[in-house]
Amino acid sequence: MAGTRRLKLEEQGIEMEVAVFGAGEPVLLLHGFPLRGEMWLPALEHLPQGFSYIVPDLRGHGQSAATDECTISDFADDLAALLELLDERRRIVVVGLSMGGYVALEFTRQYEACVRGLVLVDTRAEPDSQEAAKARLETAERVLREGTAVVANAMLEKLFAPEAPAPLRDYWKRIMLDTTPRGAAAALRAMASRPDSFPVLKSMTVPSLIVVGEKDVITPPDCALRMHEAAAQSELVILPGVGHMAPVESPRPFADALRRFLSRLPSKSS
Ligand code: MLT
Repeated sequence: MAGTRRLKLEEQGIEMEVAVFGAGEPVLLLHGFPLRGEMWLPALEHLPQGFSYIVPDLRGHGQSAATDECTISDFADDLAALLELLDERRRIVVVGLSMGGYVALEFTRQYEACVRGLVLVDTRAEPDSQEAAKARLETAERVLREGTAVVANAMLEKLFAPEAPAPLRDYWKRIMLDTTPRGAAAALRAMASRPDSFPVLKSMTVPSLIVVGEKDVITPPDCALRMHEAAAQSELVILPGVGHMAPVESPRPFADALRRFLSRLPSKSS
């Protein structure tokens, strides 16, 4: 992607790739599993100027290095280190889709003083149930044995609304297959052990926007509604006819919702 940089996170011992678009108030865009920062490009075309959009590949995804093990908390720490390396000290709007949403919630739990607004897209605040966590850990083992196709094949049918065009599905299947088994397995384990994030939503004092595709079957609108009810200063937007990849399937309406949220934020980030 244009404007891409590769940065070494010394404490974490990994290199991360990040692209920065535009200049102005910072907005951090966090992709889902097992995808990469590129998933924000369709929406970026419609997002307003006057912001600096920071788009990392999360650990083990895209061009960022993988580790055998990591937690959602590690993903959040990676981002704090990344922002420091970018010399970004202003309060930031954090936007996360699905797994990116789990990371955005964890970042808010740990670094709320750095957060200006939170945007949760096609995600949930609940942790995995015991059965879901067990299934994920089993999938992680299979991915290491058989490759990332195990998750790419399982997720493909669920990612998009039924009406999404075949070329879009094919393209994102290829992206999923590009994720290394090591990176995918570590992320699966991280998601399996993630904590309940409702306490974050209930206690945080920053405004939030919750966006969900009407036809999202991975994190359905019920999940979004529960987050909206928990977060005092939240707005809920349900995008019609769209699945789990709302910013990819419906970039303009997604960008419109984000633009409205950004324009209503109370104060500058510094
Ligand atoms: C994602 O889209 O990031 C994943 O489906 C999230 C999950 O599996 O919980």
